[in-house]
Amino acid sequence: MSVSLLSAASVAASAGGPALSLLLDNVILEYPDGGGTIKALDSVSLGVAAGRMVSLVGPSGSGKSSLLAVAATLVRPTSGRVVIDGVSTTGLRDAELTALRREKVGIIFQQPNLLASLTAVEQLMIGHHLRGKPLKAARSRALDLLGMVGLGPSADQRPHQLSGGQRQRVNIARALMGDPRVLLVDEPTAALDHERSASIVGLLRRVTDEFQVATVMVTHDTEFVPLTDAVAVMRDGGLAAPRNSGQGATAPSSGRSVFG
Ligand SMILES: Nc1ncnc2c1ncn2[C@@H]1O[C@H](COP(=O)(O)OP(=O)(O)O)[C@@H](O)[C@H]1O
Ligand SMILES: [Mg+2]
Repeated sequence: MSVSLLSAASVAASAGGPALSLLLDNVILEYPDGGGTIKALDSVSLGVAAGRMVSLVGPSGSGKSSLLAVAATLVRPTSGRVVIDGVSTTGLRDAELTALRREKVGIIFQQPNLLASLTAVEQLMIGHHLRGKPLKAARSRALDLLGMVGLGPSADQRPHQLSGGQRQRVNIARALMGDPRVLLVDEPTAALDHERSASIVGLLRRVTDEFQVATVMVTHDTEFVPLTDAVAVMRDGGLAAPRNSGQGATAPSSGRSVFG
């Protein structure tokens, strides 16, 4: 699969290129810190097209989780633009942001955070249930997704009956319930052994391809980077030296990266 890394100038031109499902444009995020502020994201620009998967690596505290939180519209940037599937989030009200997030964004954190009393299929349906949506269609989609992640036979099991890897698969299936266009994944394998980690990253690759989502995966496991289309490196809140994961080509040092 070929990936092009485009320069700053080509971000503007990319309107005529591959549609970007996720675009962060010159994003700055500051947190209050004592009397001053900490710049968690320092002029970050990143574009990811449908069906592309980017690894996000970098030392602890470099801003990886902050980038995902801003991309997920969970945290508003101090300045800069976040565009999800063509919709600019700047100026949206909280309720509109929540609706956009539900419709377009799947979020997968390291810990699956499943509800102890619910079966696997119920974990996927609970969001629909709480929003008063029809349950028959939700159940059918939930069972399809559990089948896709290899958990068809475990649909009626509760978290304590599942392995760590199986719980993470439920987490992934749940993130797909709303048919998201963007998938944001924070260290999905941190709590798993090597074999399970490899199969989880392989599953995320397959999901990215089959659902044509734009996926950003934070990982400390550089071994899995070749399964993704490109790697973006964070340091001190900035995105530095992105490159194609396969060929190791260095991108322009403009600080802008488009994975199209
Ligand atoms: N909610 C917060 N309030 C204040 N500072 C924060 C908050 N979240 C993260 N930070 C700071 O922002 C920087 C980036 O953190 P983070 O995005 O969690 O990095 P990473 O995920 O790469 O470890 C760090 O200096 C961290 O201490
Ligand atoms: Mg983090």
